[in-house]
Amino acid sequence: MNVHLRPMRPEDIDQVAAIDAHCFRPPWPKHSWRDELGMRNHSHLVVLCDGLLPRLPGWRRHLQLPRSRPPGERIAGYGGMWLVAGEAHISTLATHPDHRGLGYGELLLAALIRRALARQATSVVLEVRESNRVARNLYQKFGFRLFGMKAGYYREGNEDGCDMRLDLDDPEARNQVLQQCKMVRAKVIHVDTFNLIPQPFGYP
Ligand SMILES: CC(C)(COP(=O)(O)OP(=O)(O)OC[C@H]1O[C@@H](n2cnc3c(N)ncnc32)[C@H](O)[C@@H]1OP(=O)(O)O)[C@@H](O)C(=O)NCCC(=O)NCCS
Repeated sequence: MNVHLRPMRPEDIDQVAAIDAHCFRPPWPKHSWRDELGMRNHSHLVVLCDGLLPRLPGWRRHLQLPRSRPPGERIAGYGGMWLVAGEAHISTLATHPDHRGLGYGELLLAALIRRALARQATSVVLEVRESNRVARNLYQKFGFRLFGMKAGYYREGNEDGCDMRLDLDDPEARNQVLQQCKMVRAKVIHVDTFNLIPQPFGYP
């Protein structure tokens, strides 16, 4: 089994939207994924695939950049982030219900944070449902702090949102997140072409 983090591509939309429908109410409509993929300066989307990586010819083998989806590749999770004016905003993060508890969620989060650090972001922010204990644990593990509450932020269920922030300018928080990313990356053997190549080859 191989785990591969790579930039999301248009042909991934069906699989990602299917996971999204399992995880969120309401899920993003498919056109939103297409729009996000079109905003490559601001919107950063990563997918985590598991399955067998193909044998590729020449330099493509080293970068693990197949031209099309290799047979046997399944998307097990995805994450999204907007990067604007030095602030990274995690817009979405999910793993397939059959692939939870394997360290994939934290690997995806670490990939987004590494991208934010590489782009000199000074903070990472996100909203999470107050009742979402699992995700809140995950974010706290990376050093995110509860900054405030957003009343009724989630219209579905009229639930409050926790406004969580990670200050990358704070040396202590930065150190904690760097250590965490390192540990998480060491836990799951994987290839990361999301952070290797900021803009994927052949990307529209
Ligand atoms: C949140 C989510 C992405 C976590 O993904 P995952 O792949 O299961 O998580 P990991 O295996 O990487 O676990 C990472 C950390 O998450 C927390 N966590 C994971 N499962 C947990 C559980 N059942 N109970 C409590 N905390 C849990 C822990 O802090 C864990 O670290 P640990 O293993 O050192 O305890 C996943 O549960 C999910 O997709 N949920 C639905 C979508 C969602 O809520 N997304 C977040 C929106 S803000």
